[in-house]
Amino acid sequence: MEHETFVAHKSVLVNEVLEYLDPKKGGIYLDVTFGAGGHTREILQANPDCKVIALDWDKKSIEEHGVPLQEEFPGRLTILWGNFSNLYRILKKAKIKKLDGILADFGTSQMQITEGPGFSVHRDTSLDMRMSPSHQKVTAAQILNEASREELREIFWKYGQEKFTKQIVDGIILERKKKKFKTTMQLTRLIERIVPRNKKQKIHPATRVFQALRICVNKELENIVSFLSAAMNALKKDGRLVCISFHSLEDRLVKQFFVDKSLAGIVEILTPKVIVASKEEIDRNRSSRSAKLRAVKFLGK
Ligand SMILES: C[S@@+](CC[C@H](N)C(=O)[O-])C[C@H]1O[C@@H](n2cnc3c(N)ncnc32)[C@H](O)[C@@H]1O
Repeated sequence: MEHETFVAHKSVLVNEVLEYLDPKKGGIYLDVTFGAGGHTREILQANPDCKVIALDWDKKSIEEHGVPLQEEFPGRLTILWGNFSNLYRILKKAKIKKLDGILADFGTSQMQITEGPGFSVHRDTSLDMRMSPSHQKVTAAQILNEASREELREIFWKYGQEKFTKQIVDGIILERKKKKFKTTMQLTRLIERIVPRNKKQKIHPATRVFQALRICVNKELENIVSFLSAAMNALKKDGRLVCISFHSLEDRLVKQFFVDKSLAGIVEILTPKVIVASKEEIDRNRSSRSAKLRAVKFLGK
């Protein structure tokens, strides 16, 4: 079984991000998923004459990693707090005009998994899972306690492809009649009792349900859809958009969007074949094993 230890977030596909973003002298680049700032730092280092605007929804990420990086690269890094689905409004408010490139590295950071409330199946924390509690009302616990049987089934099946969805949902409905869900361990232990043990399986039996709840709480797929459209309006001609997905549902959205825009003559696809991590990178950083990178060039139409 995988257990999370407190390790710093390791950025994935760094060389590939730089290759496709191609930071230029005088260029302005937007990193919409700042996290621990790993990609932002690489972009700033790749060209000493470019600037980066970095955005994240998670205030803690920005506070812990944003300020030190601004001090390291004086005058070259602007940090913004917000949801990338509101890109148009955020850029307008910050009076930012067209960009030379945008990077999105979707999903969660290692800090969120190892420190945030509700994200890990291994730590007993409140069943929250909100990436930005100031912007979001509904927690994972509320969904478990209040959603109907059909709604729960749809969430676990659609966002987690969980084979034991029916059994798990039946278990949750029975459990919540006795005691409302409050903590991660209540859910983890319940799933451990329901899902048969399989020694060959490397992930914990509750991983898929946690993932599904997280995607639902944070509206992760809806946010990507809004972001992709807004990104098209934010790029200069020849500007690049680079997206890294960790889940087939995210990657499918990105792929389809790029194909549609390419057919409409709006973008040129730079990655006809999806880019994945090398064996060496996977050996160094296991979280890179599911990363998929796609990139396009905006043709300015
Ligand atoms: C995989 S991490 C990014 C890691 C980063 N590229 C690095 O090198 O450190 C994903 C980040 O995206 C942020 N995020 C997720 N959804 C977001 C959204 N809708 N708007 C803004 N940030 C979001 C998360 O808070 C998290 O910090």
